[in-house]
Amino acid sequence: MVVATMERPAIAGGTPVRTAPLASIGDSSGRDVGDEELAQLTEVIRSGALNRNNGTKVQALEAAWAERHGVRFATAATSGTAAIHVALGALHLEPGDEVITTPITDWGTVGPILAQNCVPVFADIDPRTYCLDPEQAAAAITPRTRAIIAVHLMGQPCNMDAFLDLSRRHNLYLIEDCAQAHFATWRGQVVGSIGDIGCFSLQQSKVITTGDGGMTTTDDPELGMGLAFFQDKGWSRGRVIQGMRVYKRFGLNYRMTELQGAVALAQLAKGDRLAAHRRKIAAHITAGIADVPGVHPPYVAPQAVSSYWHYMPTIDPDVLGVGGAEFAKALSAEGIGTGAGYAAALYLQDMFQRKQVFGTSHFPFDYGDRNLDDVDYSPGLCPVSEKLADSTRSNSMRLPCHEGITEADADDMVKAITKVAHYFAER
Ligand SMILES: Cc1ncc(COP(=O)(O)O)c(C=O)c1O
Repeated sequence: MVVATMERPAIAGGTPVRTAPLASIGDSSGRDVGDEELAQLTEVIRSGALNRNNGTKVQALEAAWAERHGVRFATAATSGTAAIHVALGALHLEPGDEVITTPITDWGTVGPILAQNCVPVFADIDPRTYCLDPEQAAAAITPRTRAIIAVHLMGQPCNMDAFLDLSRRHNLYLIEDCAQAHFATWRGQVVGSIGDIGCFSLQQSKVITTGDGGMTTTDDPELGMGLAFFQDKGWSRGRVIQGMRVYKRFGLNYRMTELQGAVALAQLAKGDRLAAHRRKIAAHITAGIADVPGVHPPYVAPQAVSSYWHYMPTIDPDVLGVGGAEFAKALSAEGIGTGAGYAAALYLQDMFQRKQVFGTSHFPFDYGDRNLDDVDYSPGLCPVSEKLADSTRSNSMRLPCHEGITEADADDMVKAITKVAHYFAER
């Protein structure tokens, strides 16, 4: 296969490994979206029923999604963010209740906690998987903690043994944020079916997509009903008492349209194949860089099977004499565009530093018997997260491994990594 070379890298005036751009997840070059989706969509358009309450596609999607995940209930929503809000909305949380999660995630994990008048509590990540560290989460539990949102980052499942144990011992709800990890497994069980509620995103860049969309899953009938109410407008359709609708719950109309549902249905049917492709590409890169000095493939726990939202290798600056930023720059020069680090440590955002989200108030941080300093968002709170989020300090970088990436592309990645690593290690 690819042989270690002493070639001059492009940053030192050598010839880049490739000049053709890699396929993009942002368009048809990197997305398996076509005839199957069109056929489903055409049915919806011809039916004229574009709303989930008039059509059949979203309901069919929910049934198929529940079946694929081995749970009794699945509820569609307009986005992954909406799905997290739907999940929290099903829990009957009190204002000021605390929800523990990771600072390394999309805003969509955290915004809904605030929207539900609750307080996000951030705990650090495991330096190997970059997922929420169960021990750090345990240390963040207070009498106000009601739930944990475990985010399966980059396709890697969190340590679900530890989170199940923790949530049972402390009587907490366990929500799985599977936005980046469709079809990943922990001890053979698919993510989204392990905790109390699973949440998924179907946004453009995810393992399967309907542009924007979301799903929630649960096996608990009470929670299942809560999810269904919250994604709609909280009233029991069909149940009218004395001529009036009965609004049983709060709900914000996060209904998925039939157009989204049609595309999602076609995508779900391809999901396992698409996840298998990601695993194949990841395995190809991992095998190819096995003997490369100072470069480590993404760590995957022995109980886990990742679905590789991205492939995230980490370099060792002690071996290579450079940090992630410089290595990523050299890879980009080889035609493998990347950058060091991922996301932002969310508590460092101004909103959390000021503890001011809603107007000039400090609600919910000072609500009821809460004091403003009951929750800590100080810089330095989660050092592993802060390092990962800092593109000047992180030693990890993201490489694409979606369905538009071929084995030949993966070979180019291996070649570029090999060339750049040898250059730095041996100069
Ligand atoms: C881990 C995680 N949670 C939640 C979300 C929110 O999903 P959406 O963008 O569909 O609202 C995302 C999307 O980027 C995500 O990556």
